[in-house]
Amino acid sequence: MSESHSNKQNLKGNQTQKSSHHQVKPNYGVDAPGVMWNFLRVGVSAIAVGLLSLSFNTLGIIAFCAGLVLCTVGLVSLTLGLVMVVYALRGKFIYRDYMLSLIDWQGDEMVLDVGTGRGLLMIGAAKRLTTGKAIGIDIWNDEDLSGNTVENTLKNVELEDVKDRIELMTEDVRQMSFADDSFDVILSTYCLHNIENEQEREASCLEIARVLEPGGTVLISDYIPTHDYAKAFTAAGLSVKSSKPYLLKAFAPMWMVVATKKC
Ligand SMILES: C[S@@+](CC[C@H](N)C(=O)[O-])C[C@H]1O[C@@H](n2cnc3c(N)ncnc32)[C@H](O)[C@@H]1O
Repeated sequence: MSESHSNKQNLKGNQTQKSSHHQVKPNYGVDAPGVMWNFLRVGVSAIAVGLLSLSFNTLGIIAFCAGLVLCTVGLVSLTLGLVMVVYALRGKFIYRDYMLSLIDWQGDEMVLDVGTGRGLLMIGAAKRLTTGKAIGIDIWNDEDLSGNTVENTLKNVELEDVKDRIELMTEDVRQMSFADDSFDVILSTYCLHNIENEQEREASCLEIARVLEPGGTVLISDYIPTHDYAKAFTAAGLSVKSSKPYLLKAFAPMWMVVATKKC
């Protein structure tokens, strides 16, 4: 069974994970599961009602126009829901591998995955390490990712056989306990947008810059444009290499900022 096939189980959400005593494949969850199901539900319902209105031509022009609007809204909503399904099943794995391929791994790096969730980037990085270590931090918000618990992440770590190279910590990116210059590589996907306050997102970037070692690299991906993160990194003295979209790599809205800390 492939990784993406096993991930189909995720679409059923948390319950399936809890009742499965013998999980045999890693499960990296669905991002914003409530949002995904709402898009799918609204999409199917609006298209169904819209088609119904269009089929009753005795109801006149208003019903016809309402039908067209409902079908359009439904199609947009369904498309957005399906984009999230495709990302959960395939896109996140392709994009993770692409993101990790941008690092020239030596094997001895100290890596931080900010908002690791079920360990997608932390485990991916750990597989590229020999003597190094990948640390994943999170606050385990289950609205952001289905089955988002320490237990489920540790299960993935065990199944992926990287236990000796990882550490999981409950930490908020806005105020991390790590010393300055602790990490050679800092990674993050779909985390920072969850911090609603703009100043707090900026403060998080400054925290990330603080714990990055001189000569180290940070790669932050998000579904919103990453220019504000880039600005905060520049203000923190980092050198921003790029801040651009990667839609076709992720099959989903995706931006990434890459920056390095001057030696
Ligand atoms: C959409 S999930 C993405 C998880 C993982 N990076 C992935 O790509 O599969 C966002 C994650 O960020 C975490 N998160 C949200 N706000 C955070 C914060 N202030 N500090 C640390 N983690 C946070 C959530 O708990 C969640 O696990």
